[in-house]
Order: sequence, then structure tokens, then C-alpha cells
Amino acid sequence: MEPNAIEKQGVFVTRTLPKDIFEELLRHVDVEIWDFETPPPYEVLLEKVRGKQGLLCLLTDKVDARVMESGSELKVISQIAVGFDNINVAEATKRNIKVGNTPGVLTDATADFTFALLMSAARRIGEGIEYVRQGKWKTWGLTLLLGQEVYGKTLGIVGLGRIGTAVAKRATGFDMRILYADEIQNLDAEKELNAKYCTLNELLCESDFVSLHVSLNERTEALIGKQQFEMMKPTAILINTSRGPIVDQEALYSALSEGKIAYAALDVTDPEPLPLDSKLLSLPNIIIEPHIASATVTSRTKMCQMAVENLLSGLKGDPLPYPVN
Ligand code: DGY
Repeated sequence: MEPNAIEKQGVFVTRTLPKDIFEELLRHVDVEIWDFETPPPYEVLLEKVRGKQGLLCLLTDKVDARVMESGSELKVISQIAVGFDNINVAEATKRNIKVGNTPGVLTDATADFTFALLMSAARRIGEGIEYVRQGKWKTWGLTLLLGQEVYGKTLGIVGLGRIGTAVAKRATGFDMRILYADEIQNLDAEKELNAKYCTLNELLCESDFVSLHVSLNERTEALIGKQQFEMMKPTAILINTSRGPIVDQEALYSALSEGKIAYAALDVTDPEPLPLDSKLLSLPNIIIEPHIASATVTSRTKMCQMAVENLLSGLKGDPLPYPVN
């Protein structure tokens, strides 16, 4: 990268960055950083993008038309995440602002974590940890914390994209029957993973585990609600590592408390963070994690590197290596 090509261009960064990534940025551009572990308030974001050519942001930043209006000199919005439902991409395209994301490098970390949630819910790992910590463990119990088998069961994957496919790969090691529902049929995955294409309703009726891997948009918001829970087995386990609003949480609470499904394991909620008075937190049959599926050192380092590559390319007026629009 030729430093002079983009020198003096201004960038707003919405979160503390790893030191080496921040230093790399400083070598190339004028950086103003919101150097905190929590996101800048919306009004601060509006103010800070003014006069900047680049924005390096996270999925917690709402980058809408007002932000782009305020940042009228923006050339590039570079998101450190694969999902970009927080960004109004249509508006950015209209304004000739390039948008980039970080696909691929978090696929395996996210698929591993999805499987960890699946196993933890099936075998009630969280409940076991609490049982021991609270001094309740008195003896080996014949019916203590009975869970469900994973091996040979049916896994329904909603959205067989990069992450869904990686989850399916892991499931083959457990000899699971794999069903998938998607807008597009994936013949290669069917051949390679012996996955069966079906409708969402068929998948919900037949699956022991339902794992969500669609991106959030107007077609997928509240995709899993009251009607869908009615179709699921009473022993079914729902895993969500995609986006919180894909599940209707009120309906999930009813389904879990009324025994319509057995368990849920969520890495994502709506909103995030989940308020402490959320009814979901009162349930024994749920695992909730703080959106950490991609949180490995390797994955997060690569995500930052890719986002910086996108940012610098956009500032130079080059095509982004990992473009969204
Ligand atoms: C993403 O990248 O969209 C994940 O949700 C966070 O890694």
C-alpha cells in the first residue's frame, strides 16, 4: 500500500481496536477513534462521521441514512463482521458509498460454537455446572440431568450458506441426518453432505435440532414464531447463532415454558444485550451467550485485517476486496 495515496483522509473508528491493527491504520490515515468497549451513542456517531471519508464500524452501530447524510464525504463503510443488517446498504449504494464486510474467516469459529451450543443444550452442560457450583451434587444419580442423544439425530439447518454448510459438515461426524431449508437449493452440499432439501415446515416437523443460519432481512424477521414452534417436536432444541430478531422471543418464551419445545441455545438476542429482566432469563431450559460465536483470536484478528483492507481500498477509490455492494 502506498501511504501517500490516502494520506490525510479521515476515518472514524467506532470501537477500541487491537493495538497492531490500530497502528496499521495510523500509518495510512487520520484516525479518530471512539476508544471504548461500548458503542458510541447514535448522536456521537452522527457528529463524528462529519467530514470523514471512511467509517470502520461494528454490528452494534446503526449506520442509516441520517449517518450517511451527516457523513456526506464518506467513500467507504467497512464493517468488522460478516452480517451487515445494521447498515442501510441501499442508501449507501445510492450515495456511491462502498460497503465492505468480513466473510469466510469466521465461518469455522461460528460453526464450532453452534455445535458447542447444540451439544451443551442436548446434554444440559450449563445446568450441570450450576449443580456442582451450588453444592447440590450428593451422589451419582440414575436420572440426574438426563439429556438427549446427539448421535444419529436429525439436524435441520435453516439457511445452508457458508456457516450452515460448515455446521452440516460437523454434523456428519455425528452421523446426523441433515435437512435444510433455503431460498436456493444447494446441489453440491446435498451430494457432499447427504443433506436433504425441504420446506421450512417439513424441517420444523422432522428435526430434533433446528439451527438458524440466515441473515436478517424483511423476509427472515420473526421467521420462527408461534406457528413454527407449534410444528416442532416437544423434544426439539433450537439453536440461534445468526441474529436475534429472526426468532420471536415472546413466542420462544411461551414455547419453552409450555413444553412446545425442549430447549433453546442462543448466541444472539433482541435486543443485545438482553435486559436482565427478560423473562427468558428465568427459564431453566435455555442457554444464552453474549454474541461470541466468532470470538476466537484467529477469527477476530482476520476480521479486523479484512476490514482494514476494505477501508484502505475504499479510500483509495479501488474496488473493495470483500464488497457488500
Ligand atoms: C457477524 O460477523 O456477523 C457475527 O455476528 C459476529 O461475528
